Parts: sequence; C-alpha cells; structure tokens
Amino acid sequence: MNVYDLQQKILQLKKQNDVCILAHSYVAREISEIADFTGDSYGLSVQAANVPNQTVLMCGVRFMAETCKILSPQKKVLLANPLAGCPMAEQMDKQLITQVKEQFPDYLVMAYINTTAELKTIADVCVTSSSAVKIAKAVKQDKILFIPDCNLGTFVAGQVPEKEFKLLQGGCPVHASIRPQAVQEMKRLHPNALVLVHPECVPEVTAQADYVGSTTGIMAYAEQSDAKEFIIGTEISISEHLQYDCPDKYFYPLSKELICPNMKSMTLVDVYRNLTGEDGEEIFLDEETLHLAKKCIDNMIQLGG
Ligand code: 13P
Ligand code: SF4
Repeated sequence: MNVYDLQQKILQLKKQNDVCILAHSYVAREISEIADFTGDSYGLSVQAANVPNQTVLMCGVRFMAETCKILSPQKKVLLANPLAGCPMAEQMDKQLITQVKEQFPDYLVMAYINTTAELKTIADVCVTSSSAVKIAKAVKQDKILFIPDCNLGTFVAGQVPEKEFKLLQGGCPVHASIRPQAVQEMKRLHPNALVLVHPECVPEVTAQADYVGSTTGIMAYAEQSDAKEFIIGTEISISEHLQYDCPDKYFYPLSKELICPNMKSMTLVDVYRNLTGEDGEEIFLDEETLHLAKKCIDNMIQLGG
C-alpha cells in the first residue's frame, strides 16, 4: 500500500472511532498531514483538553501523552509508539530531585515540561520553552532551581538577571550536539541568512543567534520575517515544515544530524495499528500523580504559560 492509501484508511478509521490525532512538529511529515492538530507539546495538550473526542492519539513522546492525560484525565490517551520516550525527560527522577530540594530548601522548583508526570508531582511550577522567561519573571520567589535542562536554564537565567538560578547537568542530546563552529560555518555559507535556534542549544550557540525561541516561536518568526533565508537550529522537521509553509524562502538546517530518534521512531503504520487496536499504549496515571502533577501545570497556566 502506498502512503496516500494508508493515510486515507487512517482518516476513515479516525472518523469511525471518533479519535483526535495530535502530532508534534518533530514527527514525520506523512503523520502531520493526517493529524487534527500539529504543534508544540503544550499547544497539543491544550488542544487535547478542548476537543470533543473521547480518545486522543498522541504522535509524540511519552511526557507529551502524560501531559495530555493530566489535563484530560477523563479521556482515553494513547501513545502511538510506546518506545518513544524523551531522554531528557528521563534524566532526573523524583528521588534525585527530592534530595536536591533538601539541599536548597528555599528554592522554587521550576520544571521544564519535558519531565515525567512523576517528577512534576514534586515541582512547584512547570514551564515550556516559550513561557519559561515570562514565568521566571512572574513567580514571587527570587531563587529558582531549574530542572532538567541546564542549557534552557542558562538561557532563562540570562534573560532574568535579577533572580538567582541553580542548574543541574541535564539536557537534550539532539540540541546539545550542535557545535558553535557549525553556526560559524553555516553563516559563512549563507551570509544573508538569519540564525534561529532553540534554547535547548548550548549557550555558545544561542549567543550567535538572531532569534532564540521554542519550535512554535521559530516557525512564527520565520513566517513573519521579511528575510528570505534562515539557518534553523532545531529538529530537522521544522526546516521541512517551514519549506512547505513558505516556499519562497530558504531554510538550512544547522546540522543534518538534528534528528530526534524518538520522535522519528513513530511511523504511519503505528498510527494505523493504534486505530485498529493492534498496537499503542494507553496512558494510565494514579489519582495522586494526576492531582499533584496538575497543580504544577495549573501554576504554569495561571502565570501565563
Ligand atoms: P516544544 O515544547 O517546543 O514542543 O519542544 C519539545 C521538545 O522536545 C524540544 O526538543
Ligand atoms: Fe527530547 Fe530532545 Fe527529542 Fe525534544 S528533541 S523530544 S528534548 S530528545
């Protein structure tokens, strides 16, 4: 069967079974084409809570499916590929952060949304890459323990110099792999291009960028800009989506190795098998986890998440 025919079958099954398909912007193009919504992790979970469908199929990584479940506990939330985890989200667990909290009792624990539901239960507030600076400024505490991404944490600390930050050694292996020299080399090859990067990149990379922002932020910036060429420092799918959205502009991935293997482990066949009930995993979280993790996400929403 070709891709188009499989997509048609999926669209038919989706309607028949009343399923809403959410696709993170990093998954393969053929999946985003049949999704009801595409976007960043936070945007997708908000969509999940608002749609009337009782079943939501997450084509993204595990923490994204968990966030959907926390915001919509009454819905059936499926993770399209049970093997799709986010290595950053799994770097720190509840036990480790409980110990760190004991060492820094007067610090507010600010957790990036790329964390497990279990870890969110002991965090004070959650943030996304697009809301972290705003929330760090808005919280009343002036001491912040930022977990798990030290690169995002360094970026936020630089934007909020009036507060004190404690960071731990964590981060995204994909974004952190971008070398500062790669930016110089790409700028030499494309001298008229603007450099747009994700704050999960190392500080030596973000320091050279014209714009630093979330996946959604990078896309909006490139679409609205009058510039014609852009060097994109985030997962390679963003360059691909932008090329389709703005065919008169040019997008150069900062590195051809900017591929998230977890996001890319999801296939159209996985989506099909979830709809036939042959594969996939339903997300279950206990009442206490749901309740405590939701507090941390609610604080984010309240502070302008
Ligand atoms: P978003 O929150 O922008 O979706 O990013 C998630 C992510 O995994 C970035 O690497
Ligand atoms: Fe996790 Fe990095 Fe993949 Fe995002 S790109 S899902 S942070 S491993």
